Amino acid sequence: MKKFIILALTGLGLASATISASADNPEAGKGHYTTCVACHGDQGQGNKAMNAPRLNHLEPVYVAAQLSKFRRGVRGGPGATATSMQMAPMAATLADDQAVTDVAAYIATLESPASASTLAGDVKMGADYYNQFCGACHGAGAVGNLALNSPRLAGGDDWYLQAQLLAFRSGQRGSHPEDTTGKQMRAMAAILPDEQAVKDVVAYLHGLEQ
Ligand code: HEC
Ligand code: HEC
Repeated sequence: MKKFIILALTGLGLASATISASADNPEAGKGHYTTCVACHGDQGQGNKAMNAPRLNHLEPVYVAAQLSKFRRGVRGGPGATATSMQMAPMAATLADDQAVTDVAAYIATLESPASASTLAGDVKMGADYYNQFCGACHGAGAVGNLALNSPRLAGGDDWYLQAQLLAFRSGQRGSHPEDTTGKQMRAMAAILPDEQAVKDVVAYLHGLEQ
């Protein structure tokens, strides 16, 4: 347990170093974000009706990494889910890496409460699964560990976390040969015994401090 916490703290230290090192311009990012509002909302709060998840709880480094994957077809390419194929052309509207970094920095300035829960699961079972299979990378409280490229999960929409776990399990996310971090996560999603276990772990995640 002690080792686990140290790992998580080390990750946070490295993360802040990485973020402050990138010369980002949230004001420019605000301009780029106008393309995103229709689906993700003006506060990055997400919109379930559009299958567009909350973004404002995520670390800019992770948001930028995913946008870069969408732009290169490493996420949302052939064989991916319909929802990720919707997102890929949106990421392509960002002209270059600077635009990606800037929009990610702007999203990090936005705030909203977490969305309401939409699915039922056994929170206690979910906690057991999380501690056994997920916490080493995603950290205590699921706050993420950027040293391991593992995003924050606490505060995420339950329907989105469920959809992503199912996409990893079916190979619709994380199968592209260049998707090394997605490949890691695919293996972990496959460890959960069944779809009820997916619901349980998501119910646990959604109950964490946002
Ligand atoms: C047409 C609706 C739509 C628009 C416009 C849109 N998105 Fe998305 N976005 C989605 C959907 C749907 C997903 C979920 C993809 C999936 O299921 O894998 C998504 C996913 C994402 C993710 C992944 C989040 C994660 O936790 O991995 C990021 C980051 C993102 N969008 C950022 C943006 C940005 C920045 C813009 C504007 C440049 C934008 N989106 C515009 C629909 C949209
Ligand atoms: C070996 C480290 C590792 C373990 C263990 C791990 N993950 Fe992950 N997880 C990752 C990485 C890395 C990513 C980012 C994947 C990417 O870059 O697309 C990720 C991404 C995710 C995402 C997508 C989040 C988003 O915003 O799109 C979910 C959901 C997730 N993990 C849940 C879990 C659950 C639940 C478990 C336990 C069953 C788990 N992870 C175990 C490393 C791990």
